[in-house]
Amino acid sequence: MRSVKFTWLLMIFVVLAATLSPRVATSSQSETEKRIGALLARMTLAEKLGQLQQLDGEGNGTFRPEHPDLIREGLLGSTLNVRGAKNTNQLQHVAMDESRLKIPVLFGFDVIHGYRTIFPIPLAEASSWDPASAQRSTSIAAQEARNSGVRWTFAPMLDIARDPRWGRITEGAGEDPFLGAAFARARVRGFQGTDYSAPDKILACAKHWVAYGATEGGRDYNTTDMSENTLREIYFPPFKAAVDAGVGTVMSAFNDLNGVPTSANPFTLTKVLRGEWKFDGFVVSDYTSVKELINHGLAADDPDAARLALNAGVDMEMVSRLFNQRGPELLKEGKISQATIDEAVRRILRIKFRLGLFEHPYTDEARESSSLLTASNRAAARAIADRSMVLLKNERAALPLSKALHSIAVIGPLADDHRSPLGWWSGDGKPEDTVTPLTGIRAKVSPATKVSYAKGCDTQGDSTEGFAEAVAIARDSDVAIVFVGESAEMVGEAASKSSLDLTGRQMDLVKAVHATGKPTIVVLINGRPLTVGWIVENTPAVLEAWMGGTEAGNAIADVLFGDVNPSGKLPVTWPRTVGQVPIYYNHMNTGRPPEANNRYTSKYLDVPWTPLFPFGYGLSYTQFKISNLQLSAPRISSAGKLMVSVDVENVGRRAGDEVVQLYIHDVAASMTRPVKELKGFQRITLAAGEKKRVDFTLEAEQLGFWNREMRFAVESGEFKVMVGPNSEELLEATFTIENQ
Ligand code: NOJ
Repeated sequence: MRSVKFTWLLMIFVVLAATLSPRVATSSQSETEKRIGALLARMTLAEKLGQLQQLDGEGNGTFRPEHPDLIREGLLGSTLNVRGAKNTNQLQHVAMDESRLKIPVLFGFDVIHGYRTIFPIPLAEASSWDPASAQRSTSIAAQEARNSGVRWTFAPMLDIARDPRWGRITEGAGEDPFLGAAFARARVRGFQGTDYSAPDKILACAKHWVAYGATEGGRDYNTTDMSENTLREIYFPPFKAAVDAGVGTVMSAFNDLNGVPTSANPFTLTKVLRGEWKFDGFVVSDYTSVKELINHGLAADDPDAARLALNAGVDMEMVSRLFNQRGPELLKEGKISQATIDEAVRRILRIKFRLGLFEHPYTDEARESSSLLTASNRAAARAIADRSMVLLKNERAALPLSKALHSIAVIGPLADDHRSPLGWWSGDGKPEDTVTPLTGIRAKVSPATKVSYAKGCDTQGDSTEGFAEAVAIARDSDVAIVFVGESAEMVGEAASKSSLDLTGRQMDLVKAVHATGKPTIVVLINGRPLTVGWIVENTPAVLEAWMGGTEAGNAIADVLFGDVNPSGKLPVTWPRTVGQVPIYYNHMNTGRPPEANNRYTSKYLDVPWTPLFPFGYGLSYTQFKISNLQLSAPRISSAGKLMVSVDVENVGRRAGDEVVQLYIHDVAASMTRPVKELKGFQRITLAAGEKKRVDFTLEAEQLGFWNREMRFAVESGEFKVMVGPNSEELLEATFTIENQ
């Protein structure tokens, strides 16, 4: 009787799981496969190759003059940058009313951290250590984009980045695979939900597959070279998490990887992605990355590039047209097979069916404008920016400031700049919608407070003409708040830098204001770690505000004046100087770990080996005490689990959030292991004086690694487990794994 009940329960569970699975299609899977088969049978070769083509529109969202003709002939399956309900509908009508097979066009766009309401840059959002915030922002971005005719975003960007010289560090979740995977899952869920055909969801694209963030010298588009172990343990996990969360598409990257460029790499595109991970969506190349196989020196010419990319597993070609132009001759010569072309078409059509594009190809033009930048979307952007800021220094409680100060000097090139908070990928965000820090501060303080503003200098260039005014208003005020960092064009794609110092005369501006003797608070607006050691040493308070999106100014004021207690933690290590790069917390040990008084250990002669700020670091207006680390057992089996718990107490005087972090270290293994690996984190809220027990479950599976035989294994032996508020200040205990 019992087992019958159990079987029923199991069946109900299986049905429920299938219904709730992220891969739910509008029609059943076999029905979809039948429809794909029927369409394929009717398609000419040209129409098939047309589905593999994606072309660019105009920056303002309109399509190009050639698009309607190509679509009418069935030669264009997808566009990027064409957006706006009217533009997309117009083009879609050509596909649905005038083309032979009526296959809808798939409209893609880079909705990286917001469509019209812009959220903090992804690196900032990752500083919240709150994946729910990322799910919320991507879900709002999906809604806005969808109402503007966009059905597909080229996001989330999942590249692990250990090198702040690389401008695209701004687009990802930082340096850690565990944190990166948590944000990958959240962002895929936010964009796609459990069913991306829902009227408020869009298709996501995990990019850039893969190891693009490891580009040599931090120079964009450059070569990467690394062991398969590092690939699998550091660079793959966020992608694996995205695939497991049901991501519909993946973008092959620009970079070479161990001699085989990623847009023609059968190992990554086919063996791992489709073979090991069972990904059944489609792969789009990055912008002209198929054609660029010639520059890489892998392809001899255009047809060769098309052959290599298609055969490796790229399905859709972005912007270059080699599949289209060279497909027929390659097929004739037997260099690609009909089956390969059909399979690529099949994968693309599968996603178009799952998206519900055939049933709902159009967008309601009447709803578009009222659904963008709504008050509630703005409120969400502000709340997420509030959670994303990182308090780097706060000597003698310099912050928060009183709202009733007599006078405040707001200074710096980014104090009233509308563009920088939007970052490089600003979707359809408009600078005029941005709340600048100056506006946010004015709205926050008492009407009696005098707020003066001086720009001081630009983010670039040598002029110090504005210094005198800046110094004068600082002298006349109770406190100076200086906003420095990077402007939007200094971050993002093709924005590599050889120096992480503040550009132009910004550092001199901070020094000049500081020299007035007035308390000088520095707020950084930037998209990557910066080498600001002087500021950290000399000024009383430093707030990392990142590029906070449309509501940045209000959120900054929330934190500066104490309506919000800062709670962000750095998702990336901050170097003291660019010469320390790459510097990341989860490095291997050396045979000679650094020792202060021993020359022959691993360090630098001219700078300390330690970072300016470690991974996971961030302060609060209150103080937390973490104590009483306990493990459920001294040993576990390789299939077991361990409970790890600590007490966390708010010993300060105001409520706040702490991000409790759990790291492990495999003490001796068959291959060397990182000195620390993040394996858990929890963001908790504690009232003043409140104490909570925080529990983590560590599965033995999380303690394994890819061994010399390139198999994932959990080895027996001693492990350290460490818990604390950042990757440096940790309580420590040990346990062992015993293999039976
Ligand atoms: C090139 C970028 O690398 C990629 O991230 C982006 O999605 C495409 N351009 C399309 O804009």
